[in-house]
Amino acid sequence: MNAIEDAIPSTPLPLAGRAPGKCIVFGEHAVVHGAPELVFAIDLYTQVGVRSGPRFSLNADPHAAEEHPYFRTALARRWPGGEPLEVRSTSRIPRGAGLGSSAAFCSALVAALGAARGGIDRPALAQASYDVEKGAQGVGSPGDTSTVVAGGFITINGGGGERLWSIHGSERDWEVRRVDDPGWIWVVAHSGIPRSTGDAVREVGVRLAKPDGPELLAEFARVATAGIRALEAGDRKAVAESMVWNQELLRTVGVSHPRLEALLEAARPAAEGAKLTGAGAGGSIVVLPREGQEVDLVRRLARAGGLPFVVRPSVQGTALVTEPDS
Ligand code: PMV
Repeated sequence: MNAIEDAIPSTPLPLAGRAPGKCIVFGEHAVVHGAPELVFAIDLYTQVGVRSGPRFSLNADPHAAEEHPYFRTALARRWPGGEPLEVRSTSRIPRGAGLGSSAAFCSALVAALGAARGGIDRPALAQASYDVEKGAQGVGSPGDTSTVVAGGFITINGGGGERLWSIHGSERDWEVRRVDDPGWIWVVAHSGIPRSTGDAVREVGVRLAKPDGPELLAEFARVATAGIRALEAGDRKAVAESMVWNQELLRTVGVSHPRLEALLEAARPAAEGAKLTGAGAGGSIVVLPREGQEVDLVRRLARAGGLPFVVRPSVQGTALVTEPDS
């Protein structure tokens, strides 16, 4: 059911696609410029149901086909000339939190549209989901979309094990590989501060264009490479150290936020390592808890005003839901 090689099969309407969210452990922002990234799919999901209808709508909104950037882009690229569709999206992934809500929506919808048009294999689903997200957002890497398509732990342009696919972009290509899940519990906490991924990515691009940009980018690459190796070796202490090091670099490029720093500070007594996750400038942090102190950590984060989630890696990537109406 969830093997990477599994294609999304040809399926008549009505049907539904489901995709997990994601959590970036190392390398956000730098990945946009070709550096390595480590990401895992999380066990919070978005489900997108698709059926024929009298006109295009998303969650009963008939204007969404023109106004919702991801919906509009998906329809233009993946459903040209197709019949009107009624689409319903439900999600447990907080929006704009750096936890992959847009990647999950794009991938679940592209999978559903692909199934209705004869099926789509996983590398093509990963490429099409990236094309839709990037088309709607204007900037970004395929890290989020490839992770939610594949499920589990993934590296982009990093070491790791089995090669899954390459994603083609306008300025560069990215290689996507699988890494084994070390089986740890992770905690993420949403700061509640809204932000725009596109704006944060553009601001970091400006920062990395300064004279010390290449050295900073090389440092991002070093930390992600060290972190990926440590995770593959099951070395919690070294992973935690790389998280702290990665957070310093994210501060340097200006995407931390006082609320994120407050959450990181609150987490410290119960954390081995912690950093922001996703675009930053608001959004969420990810914490590797001290073993056995997960509950204490969640309490500390909630007391500090965060919305904590204990997350487990989702082995399953994007898939069709067999009983869309249930
Ligand atoms: O905050 P999110 O979930 O949109 O993640 C963005 C991750 C970046 O590396 C900042 C951008 C990207 O597309 O990789």
